[in-house]
Amino acid sequence: MQHIRKFVSKRKSSIAKKPVVEEVSEDHESSSNDSKGPLSPLPSSSSDARSSGSEEPPLPSTATNLPEPFYPATLQALEANGVPEASLRPRVLPDAFKAPAIPRDQVSSTIDAQDKGTPDEWVPRDPRMVRLTGKHPFNAEAKLTDLYSQGFFTSTNLFFVRNHGAVPKVDAQMARDWKVEISGIDDFRKTFEVVTVPITLVCAGNRRKEQNVVQKSLGFSWGAAGISTALFTGVRLADVLDFIQPKRGAKHVVFEGGDSLPNGPYGTSQLTSWARDPRKGMMLAWGMNGLPLEPDHGFPIRLVVPGQIGGRSVKWLKKIELSAIESQHHLHFHDNKVLPMPVGPDQARAEKSWWYDPRYIIRDLNVNSAVACPDHDEILKGNVQDMYTLRGYAYGGGGRRITRVEISLDEGTTWELAEIQYPEDQFRDFAFDDAIYGKVDLTDNDQCFCWSFWSFQVTVGRLGESPAIVVRAMDESLALQPRDMYWNATGMMNNWWFRVCIHHLDDGSMRFEHPTMAGTQPGGWMQRLKDQGRDPTKPVFGVSALNETVQNEDAVEQEVVSMIKPGVTRKITKEELAEHTGTDNPWFVVKGEVYDATEYLAEHPGGPQSITLVAGEDATDDFMAIHSADARRKLAEFHIGTLVGSLVGEDQPTESSDKPGVFLHPKKWKPSPLVSVKEVSKDSKIFRFALEGDDQALGLPTGQHVYVRLKRKVAKSGKKVSEGELVQRAYTPLSRQHEKGFIDMLVKIYYPTPDFPTGGKMTLGFAELEEGDAVELKGPIGHFTWQGDGKALIHGTTTVVREVGMVCAGSGITPILQVLRGIFEDPSDTTTKAWVLDINRDFDDILCREELDSLATRYPSRLSLRYSLTGKNIPGDWSHSVGRVNVDMLTTHLPGPSKEGVVCLCGPPPMEQSVKDSLIAMGWHPTSQIIIF
Ligand code: MTE
Repeated sequence: MQHIRKFVSKRKSSIAKKPVVEEVSEDHESSSNDSKGPLSPLPSSSSDARSSGSEEPPLPSTATNLPEPFYPATLQALEANGVPEASLRPRVLPDAFKAPAIPRDQVSSTIDAQDKGTPDEWVPRDPRMVRLTGKHPFNAEAKLTDLYSQGFFTSTNLFFVRNHGAVPKVDAQMARDWKVEISGIDDFRKTFEVVTVPITLVCAGNRRKEQNVVQKSLGFSWGAAGISTALFTGVRLADVLDFIQPKRGAKHVVFEGGDSLPNGPYGTSQLTSWARDPRKGMMLAWGMNGLPLEPDHGFPIRLVVPGQIGGRSVKWLKKIELSAIESQHHLHFHDNKVLPMPVGPDQARAEKSWWYDPRYIIRDLNVNSAVACPDHDEILKGNVQDMYTLRGYAYGGGGRRITRVEISLDEGTTWELAEIQYPEDQFRDFAFDDAIYGKVDLTDNDQCFCWSFWSFQVTVGRLGESPAIVVRAMDESLALQPRDMYWNATGMMNNWWFRVCIHHLDDGSMRFEHPTMAGTQPGGWMQRLKDQGRDPTKPVFGVSALNETVQNEDAVEQEVVSMIKPGVTRKITKEELAEHTGTDNPWFVVKGEVYDATEYLAEHPGGPQSITLVAGEDATDDFMAIHSADARRKLAEFHIGTLVGSLVGEDQPTESSDKPGVFLHPKKWKPSPLVSVKEVSKDSKIFRFALEGDDQALGLPTGQHVYVRLKRKVAKSGKKVSEGELVQRAYTPLSRQHEKGFIDMLVKIYYPTPDFPTGGKMTLGFAELEEGDAVELKGPIGHFTWQGDGKALIHGTTTVVREVGMVCAGSGITPILQVLRGIFEDPSDTTTKAWVLDINRDFDDILCREELDSLATRYPSRLSLRYSLTGKNIPGDWSHSVGRVNVDMLTTHLPGPSKEGVVCLCGPPPMEQSVKDSLIAMGWHPTSQIIIF
């Protein structure tokens, strides 16, 4: 039995309840911690320590042990077959202790394929984590909805991770021998009281993606889930320092981690006066949610600094030093700062003095909140009087309590109070001592170191009249989240109002749109407004949005961005450039400057192939046509020198292709004039372009795409001429592979609407074309080729594929149709099966319906064809589905995951992303089995 003291509140206070002892179950035994040596703060595990679990026999009183075995549960699960299940589970909190439950399933025992080939390929990780910096180092957050549905405590495998480099590999023996070097004392024999405290850690970059959409900052794109909560077990730093008794003048306590980074180890410092203050709650922790720390979270020991930005909580703690000066670690200066707004990233990079100004350091977190329900892209349909509960989180910094959360449904004109729950307070009513957790006792503590949860009930009818849900929180120092964003070069501490846009759909339902999606995931109203030429920092969602002056799109495009890395002076000859035309270390030229794409290939959102296609070449037109100002800024990171001379003129499209009888050339743009246009629906047309000769083939393998580029038209001397912006996209033609002399492209034109005032840049460019006008083509491009007879080339590997699921929307049918033809028009293939789920608004919007229906009639046992309509006008005899694609549809109308199965997707990016997520959850492999065209 564990030792539980029950406390009752003597005085009622909304902040903290002062407890008095009512009942004590047993006397405490004195601590039998036996420190390993002077510099080891970990108490040794007693020989009779047992694995956790409430069914276990009682452990000896307060002799706090390490969780046994003291080794990350994920590594145990991975390495040791036959380890008792209980050791992978955290010790439960006593029943009488009415605290939020610790998540039971915290163990991911698989190595994520994305870690293969990186220094972290030994660290088991949860594949649901959204990676924010490519493969490595591991920086990741959970999906906001996954995080929020965990409740107060976050499972360790979904706890956000911020690693600047590789995770130090610490085995069981190294962990046992691990020492934290404490400089400045000669003896460190005592052990300290072991305590367990719930603490929320938040990365200073939480919600940074919102700033990055406005202008790319120096940091990567955290969503709103760079925050997590756990029960941390360890010793109070204040106790350790009290034992040490720092000398006068030792104003700073410096902490250093065991990871090795390019500019030296990770390290930072605290003011000694803060570190010694028990109210600041700093800990040296080895336990997290009742288990040993996981490698990603600092195994075997880390500093935890509650109420401050996560960057102060040094992981893999190796050294503590008392010093007259603050930490001199590189990242203590060059990270975790909020520089003044006018200092842009280029200036910050160039002028070092900003980083050394002590006024710009950040310690305490600032007040913040976010909406978790409704989730991004959630659809709500209901009767006007039905109730819906809005939910989310709020936190303050420095131990300050959130005192109010306010909701506005009219874009900030009026506000209403939300309910707030403080699950952390449940820890203030009870205390207990435990052999693993040590002392769990917040009864005398009134600091708020954890997130709180807010909720607000509203009728569906009210939401139906509202343009957006806006939330803001205030803390007990009356600090209030601001309306406007404080954009800053590091993109940190972003805490402007959190706004969720409400789209009112034709069928009476609502779709919710969060500001951004974490990492490189597409979606969110901020990028949408930006793409529409509107200002995302001054969002207007309601009727007045329609009157909002739309910025000139060209003005947005013309934003001047430096693509040059300061200090790069190397001159590169054409001969040197010519040595980098391969796929291993490709260089390319933009506006006379040379860029090395080697390190970026895997991360490139458009795939490595679109870079290697231009290796050794002048890619100015291609690059400028498809990349945003953010991408142009990013390019500067890969700048290596200036080309001597120019490639322009040397690499112009040639008259003939290299392969006889074939039009497409992978590296050369070739003109193709428009010969006819055929309307197929109210907004879709088939554009036919001529090749160079009547019996010339296009030369496009099944499933691959063609790059198309055109110049938008502008008015000049009374007529429209193709001298506007150059735009470029990848298309899959509608014409069959064997057809010669022309290429047909099915294009759905996105005309301007109030929601999308500029319309689709590329598709409007198609609409402007007149007979005789030429577009330019280049290709093929793509990571999927249907090879025939049940085989596909996927990311360069030939794979047997016997079951092909396909989900598409609108003109996304074209690559799907090409693969269907590849399967069903191949006489040698009589077994491959396909499932098509085709989503459109109205019946008349279904493109290529006759061909699809005819295939389905001819191959009833091999082809399942399902349409779904999302609009209002459903035909009376409609026997297919209705509504947006959902998990039910995917389960019913696609094959289940199998070794010889793949699913191909083509549609609007948000649809592709959400279908991909659902498929992953259903068990499909994200890269080898889910193909996004
Ligand atoms: N400690 C070391 N040694 N190395 C690091 O890269 N990252 C810091 C901090 N401690 C870091 C570190 C940052 S920026 C954050 S936000 C937190 O760890 C994240 O802690 P977590 O990964 O356990 O969530």
